[in-house]
Amino acid sequence: MRIIVPPIKSQGIKTKLVPWIQALVPKVSGQWIEPFLGTGVVAFNSGFRKALLSEINPHIIRFYQSIKDHDITPSSVRRYLENEGLHLSKAAENGYAHFRVVKERFNAHKNPLDFLFLSRAGFNGMMRFNRNGEWNIPFCKKPNRFRRSYITKIVNQVHDVACLIQPEWEFIVAPFEKIIPLATKDDIIYCDPPYLGRYVDYYSGWNEGDEEKLFDFLSTTPARFILSTWHHNDFRENQMISKLWSKFNIVTRDHFYHSGGNIENRRAIVEALVFNFPASIKKHNYGIEPKPEQLLLLKERSTYIAKQLDREDVI
Ligand SMILES: C[S@@+](CC[C@H](N)C(=O)[O-])C[C@H]1O[C@@H](n2cnc3c(N)ncnc32)[C@H](O)[C@@H]1O
Repeated sequence: MRIIVPPIKSQGIKTKLVPWIQALVPKVSGQWIEPFLGTGVVAFNSGFRKALLSEINPHIIRFYQSIKDHDITPSSVRRYLENEGLHLSKAAENGYAHFRVVKERFNAHKNPLDFLFLSRAGFNGMMRFNRNGEWNIPFCKKPNRFRRSYITKIVNQVHDVACLIQPEWEFIVAPFEKIIPLATKDDIIYCDPPYLGRYVDYYSGWNEGDEEKLFDFLSTTPARFILSTWHHNDFRENQMISKLWSKFNIVTRDHFYHSGGNIENRRAIVEALVFNFPASIKKHNYGIEPKPEQLLLLKERSTYIAKQLDREDVI
């Protein structure tokens, strides 16, 4: 299965989990509803003709709406990135002076192409905004970031999503409680809310009250739903599983979130999918063979955890 990778990046992106999520999606005659769209990677691989895609982050929605409306096209992206990439490569302070220009321009005008630039020139493919909705991730410190091959890769990603976005796909800026009640019994809702107690930015604030509210909405929807959440890691369990979600069906699998090359940045976690319909998938790590590099990673991790425990500063 070829996974369509979206042109914007964020920590918590579900690219590697798409086949696992898709294997659980039931056959439904209605639409795909995704109230926590993020980069959109799960929706883009969903194969639905009709979709309701929403988010509280207006920059994400504006970006995809601009592609849908053909205001952003693969060729406009190429022209834009070639131009900005050239400025970046020649800018003072090892490129930083131009990164700052684009960042300030984005913060003032919220141009979706500048959003794309920041997403691809920011540190470690992270996305974070401050309380004024301004970009809050530093420069990746690579003045030659936008080489020809990198631009082509991004242009191809824009091309892929432009081909996948259907006329019946709606992009909406809204909190989840406005969207979930729109679902009918024929629809499938996929929810990937911010993980409680994990990364936080202005658009990803999430507390127990939000999780409970989401639980209430999903408990009463006539639609089928799949919720992504975390089950446990080496140090603790997600209390929301026993408190709320265990009322539904749950499957789990091991996963590593990578944000950078160091072992410290590879967070191992057991991911869960919570769902409200019958399914034959029950086993932990269903359909997944550990790859040799994952086994290596497990060995590295046990050394790393042992060191951390020695320091006794692990919660
Ligand atoms: C974990 S991310 C989704 C990641 C996505 N599945 C992906 O693979 O890229 C959660 C998203 O929910 C959005 N969000 C946070 N609180 C929300 C709320 N109350 N209603 C709707 N969206 C919200 C955030 O802006 C963020 O983009």
